[in-house]
Formats: sequence, structure tokens, C-alpha cells
Amino acid sequence: MPAELSPIDKAKFVAARRAADYVEDGMRVGLGTGSTAAWLVRCLGEMVREDGLRFRGVPTSTRTAELAREVGIEVIGLDEAKWLDVTIDGADEFDPELNLIKGGGGALLQEKIVATASDQMIVIADAAKEVSNLGHFPLPVEVVPFGWRTTQALIEESLVAMDVLGRDMTLRMAGDRPFVTDEGNHILDLHLGRIGNPRQMAMVLNQIPGVVESGLFIDICDMVIVGHGDGRVEVR
Ligand code: 5RP
Repeated sequence: MPAELSPIDKAKFVAARRAADYVEDGMRVGLGTGSTAAWLVRCLGEMVREDGLRFRGVPTSTRTAELAREVGIEVIGLDEAKWLDVTIDGADEFDPELNLIKGGGGALLQEKIVATASDQMIVIADAAKEVSNLGHFPLPVEVVPFGWRTTQALIEESLVAMDVLGRDMTLRMAGDRPFVTDEGNHILDLHLGRIGNPRQMAMVLNQIPGVVESGLFIDICDMVIVGHGDGRVEVR
């Protein structure tokens, strides 16, 4: 373990280190995005360099692709891999059914495509990400730039129809410009407080023209590896 980690980084590191043991020679592995996933990529890079682990990684963002190459992981695209043995990624929240909110780092679209094309999705998270109900973390929704205000109005209408009370929505910014995803889209962050029915919410959002994908991952995650600041690891 790297020396002098803060409790939060230690929690992320120990979860990532445990998840790295699920990667075996010859596998095709989806590599998530975010600070926890970055620990995983570094751990796997070390295993490639020092233990001779041989696998191919499919990154879920340009950031992760750059880091993976930097640490010595062989990087391929999803279409080359076709299907993956496992994807390991972080999350912003997970509930007791292992439904997730993802997209805090803006990579939810590639993350969902890659995770769905995998035999198994393992989430790595610090203990603060565990919730009884999703929604405290703002729900990211990726929208096409064309007519995004109209898309926002349609999302609002849908939330009213679902009797959702908190309906604040913010366009994610990068400085004084709208944030742009790897696919050239924008992100609306929905401040909902509590999502009573995540499955229904995911289906409704995905039917709105202009919505590319939401950060709700329903029935996609198979296992969550939870890291604690004191170095303990639990599996959900
Ligand atoms: C990026 C994500 C990340 O996995 C999520 O935001 C968690 O990030 P971190 O590990 O930095 O807390 O979904 O789109």
C-alpha cells in the first residue's frame, strides 16, 4: 500500500486492490473511471509490470485510457474485445439491491455500455457510497447538446408525472462552459434527494428524446467491494 494515504484514499485503495485479484491471465477487462477506478488501474499496472499478469483492458474514458497506457496495461477498444470477462468500476452511490448512481465523473455512457457487455460488473467503493435509498447524490443524465433546454423541460414534465418532489436540475459546467462528455454531450444533474423507484425512473428518463442515458445502473452490478478507512474490506 502506498505510504501516507488519507482514510478516504486508503478505503478506495483497499477496495481496488481486492478487486484486482479478480483479474486473471487472458481476460478482457472493463476499466472504470474516477478516483477509485484509478487506484485499480494503478494496481493492475503494477501486477502487469511486476508479476507478469497479461490481460487486455477496455477503458471507459479517455482519462482512464491514458492512465492505463501509462502504467503498462494493453488497451483495446470495446469493439475489438466484443465481450468482457469483468468490468471493475467505481460508483457514486449503491443501494442494498446493488443498484447504482454513476456519472459523477461524467463517463456514465461508456461505463454503462462496457459494464453491460461484461459477464460480471464489480463495483469498488468507499463505505460512504453505501445508501439505503439512491438519490442523495445528484443523478447525472447525459443529454445531446441540440435542444438541451427542451430536453430539460421534458425531463421536468416526466418528474411531475412521477410525483417526484425535488426537481432541481443543473447543467454541469466546466469553468464557464457546459461540461462536454467523451461523446460530445452535456450532463444535467438532477437533485432529487431520494429516488423512490429507481427502475421506473431509469425507464422513464430513457424514453425522453434528447436523453442519451442516465446514471442509474439497474441490475447491472453483481458485487460491491467496500473499502474502509482503517483498511477493512467487505463484500456486498
Ligand atoms: C465516473 C463515475 C465514477 O465511478 C464515480 O463518479 C465515482 O468516482 P470516485 O471513485 O472518484 O468517487 O461514475 O463517471
